[in-house]
Amino acid sequence: MNEAAIEIEINKNPKDWELMALFQQTDWAKSRTIDQVSVMLAKTDMSVCLRRSGKLLAYGRIINDGCFRGLLDDVIVDESVRGIGLGSLLMENLMQLAEPLDVLFLHARPSMLGYYVKFGFTDFDGITMVRR
Ligand SMILES: CC(C)(COP(=O)(O)OP(=O)(O)OC[C@H]1O[C@@H](n2cnc3c(N)ncnc32)[C@H](O)[C@@H]1OP(=O)(O)O)[C@@H](O)C(=O)NCCC(=O)NCCS
Repeated sequence: MNEAAIEIEINKNPKDWELMALFQQTDWAKSRTIDQVSVMLAKTDMSVCLRRSGKLLAYGRIINDGCFRGLLDDVIVDESVRGIGLGSLLMENLMQLAEPLDVLFLHARPSMLGYYVKFGFTDFDGITMVRR
């Protein structure tokens, strides 16, 4: 990958319509509406965007309280450019952003374990629960 051509944006929200294009490539976010995504972006202050020639290629965010807790969420690389290292570049930048936080959680499919272990995530000694 030619990393020099990749622009890294920290804590700068993408446009809602740009993010919709990435969300539509996932099974968990494809039904989000543009109005919901606008609300989400207005409350998001920790995020990384990767772009090439201005085009949004990857996104990830950390829902957080700035000090104690964070939740890594919506880690996505555009399907046209997967497998060339952008996911790692995205995670490296997200992990730098997370440094002030005591604990960073994430929720992922078991098949993603290997991806996140590389960036220091381990099994949690406890339980996580979800209420929908
Ligand atoms: C997961 C995702 C972000 C990885 O992005 P990517 O640009 O393809 O990743 P990279 O090319 O930087 O690969 C980084 C490493 O992760 C590994 N990897 C990539 N996808 C993986 C997966 N699904 N499971 C396990 N490891 C994976 C690669 O083999 C590579 O390993 P290496 O460093 O030993 O060579 C991308 O596939 C994606 O957007 N998937 C759809 C959305 C998604 O599932 N996000 C995660 C939600 S929990």
